[in-house]
Amino acid sequence: MSKVLVTGGCGYIGSHTVIDLLEQGHEVISIDNGINSEIDPTIDRIFQITGSKIINHKVDLCDFEDTNSVFDLYKNIDTIIHFAALKSVGDSVTDPLGYFHNNVTGLINLLKAAEAHGVSSFIFSSSCTVYGEADVIPVTETTVWKPAASPYGRSKQICELILEDFNKASQMNIAALRYFNPAGAHDSIKIGESPSQKAQNLVPVITETAIGKRASMTVFGQNYDTRDGSCIRDYIHIMDLADAHTKAMIFLQKHTSRGILEVFNLGTGNGVTVLEAISAFEEVSKSKLNYILGEPREGDVVSIYADYKKAEMLLQWNPKRGIKDIMDSAWKWELARNKK
Ligand code: WQD
Repeated sequence: MSKVLVTGGCGYIGSHTVIDLLEQGHEVISIDNGINSEIDPTIDRIFQITGSKIINHKVDLCDFEDTNSVFDLYKNIDTIIHFAALKSVGDSVTDPLGYFHNNVTGLINLLKAAEAHGVSSFIFSSSCTVYGEADVIPVTETTVWKPAASPYGRSKQICELILEDFNKASQMNIAALRYFNPAGAHDSIKIGESPSQKAQNLVPVITETAIGKRASMTVFGQNYDTRDGSCIRDYIHIMDLADAHTKAMIFLQKHTSRGILEVFNLGTGNGVTVLEAISAFEEVSKSKLNYILGEPREGDVVSIYADYKKAEMLLQWNPKRGIKDIMDSAWKWELARNKK
């Protein structure tokens, strides 16, 4: 059993990973400042599913003293899983300095506190946006980065470069997990994506439109060089993504050689267009979605999806769910969370 500090533990990916860790018998502590999460409702939902009430420290990672003080409260934290970061491609274009400050300063403070307290393993929430508009897809972990298409993507590139240099001077074992497009809800339908700010990602925008929270949605771009003119992404079910984190932690902890740094793509290897995602939703929800075809969105890449063979080999990880499972669980969660 490990003692795991999860930053962003009340967020979407963080909470689902916390559940997986608890179900695997690990002890979990959360740091989450609530900027894009509902802290108390999420802790309650985690308790409903696992029977465990986690402790969350409402701390801003940009404040080193506050961050470091959390470590002083606990003896021998084995692993840190670092989710807490701003992640909207669109918002990062309008607020680049806010994104660099939050995402980069938060990482540096966390690494300093971790090093000072002897933490042995560190898992970083990275993103496929580090690849930019790749020349060849699917992308592998050695695909050469193109310029990031948004300050969000660039903040993830900067963080991975910081980890590379930090790794050369540290005994900590590090994994950077490059997520593709996380989506869907927990199998129990007791928890799912519940952004405290207006949803911007495709799947929650679809379900909010379908349930009537939005009159309609816009497909950003209809004339891209893809099979139907809309962007291609690799949508990965949140349950598969959570499973990958626990497997990555076991991988790092098992590794006797100290000071390793491994990067892993976490995607399904299936590229799905926006219009195909909408059709999948309409099929599972047996409804027609109200959408219009609009202009491209600043910061979007046209197409990206993963080669995840490395995670399959080294983590013994395989995604088990596809776009229809994502839409089915997301829709059921949207209906459940709006039940009067
Ligand atoms: C997906 C596609 C949009 C909304 C995300 C996360 C980022 C990172 C990478 C993990 C794009 C289109 C969307 C809408 C649309 N994940 N879209 N209408 O931009 O690929 O980035 O995955 O780190 O954190 O944000 O995801 O869901 O915003 O967009 O047409 O109303 O859906 O143009 O092609 P994106 P997204």
